[in-house]
Amino acid sequence: MSIKDDIKALLKKHNALLVAHFYQKDSVVELAEFCGDSLELAKKASLDDRSLVVFCGVGFMGESVKILAPNKRVIMPRISCCSMARMVSSEYFDRSVELLKEYAIEDFIPITYINSNAEVKAKVGALGGLVCTSSNAKTILEYVFKKGKKIFFLPDYCLGLNMAKQFGLKAAVLGMDSKEDICRADVICYNGFCSVHQLFSIEDIEFYRERYEGIKIAVHPECKPEVVELADFVGSTSQIISYVKGLELSQAVAVGTEYNLVNRLRPPYNGENNTFVLSSTIPECPTMNETSPEDIYKLLKSFDSGRVANEIILDEGIIQDARKALLGMMELS
Ligand code: 13P
Ligand code: SF4
Repeated sequence: MSIKDDIKALLKKHNALLVAHFYQKDSVVELAEFCGDSLELAKKASLDDRSLVVFCGVGFMGESVKILAPNKRVIMPRISCCSMARMVSSEYFDRSVELLKEYAIEDFIPITYINSNAEVKAKVGALGGLVCTSSNAKTILEYVFKKGKKIFFLPDYCLGLNMAKQFGLKAAVLGMDSKEDICRADVICYNGFCSVHQLFSIEDIEFYRERYEGIKIAVHPECKPEVVELADFVGSTSQIISYVKGLELSQAVAVGTEYNLVNRLRPPYNGENNTFVLSSTIPECPTMNETSPEDIYKLLKSFDSGRVANEIILDEGIIQDARKALLGMMELS
């Protein structure tokens, strides 16, 4: 039997659902019953009727399932941490809120990108805030802004600035902009970012546009605002997939997101590749790429013997507060 068969047999034995984020390696994606972006995975895995979820992704994604469905057991082949999520802790969140108070900014609602840990989501939920993902950030931001409140957006300043721009809102970044700019801003961003999506540059876009006349540029909203500004399309991983699949096969496209996803987007056209990664260096998310089929097998074997190592365990209080922020998002999207 191959490792693939062994994994399938163990999944069946334990009636487990295996899901994977789009940025996982092909060999992991092949094993998943469902592959999706962060919002789709949170929904699908939490609403599934099986009580065991094997989650191939980064830590905050597995945590989101546990928060939404606390009675499920969520196990991960690797509990690797998204580098952006690691940029904000609950202590940093408190310090930022203190700073806003010092600036006399009290009437705000926090919105945390789903790429944050459970403690940060709990802090946000306790203050009446919401979670958002890249696919619903626009809806969530609009909902909060229509309440006439300022927004404290964390941890990704690029996503915050990109969304604010779509609505013509004033935005500023803590630690980058002046106190005056922060006080004037409708959207105040924490200064976290994604090291992978920071790689894409204006020069990359110019390079592809010069080389391939009429090429389309599609990017994730975690990219820098000047890159997003020049793109033909901006969207979450699922939205990028739909956009590219909707193009004629003859239409060349360069995509600014993780390379595992880009590489499996489309087959070559007339024997030539016309789906490009928008970068001369490989935009690989190192933590997403840690998971291998061997890890999945080892995890399931350890579960089988009753000694599972990588299980998501969260404090009850954290679950309750974080749940408010996540459920608020689910109701709106
Ligand atoms: P998606 O919400 O598009 O899945 O993005 C998650 C992520 O980590 C992108 O870097
Ligand atoms: Fe985090 Fe960036 Fe990796 Fe997405 S691509 S999981 S934001 S480090």
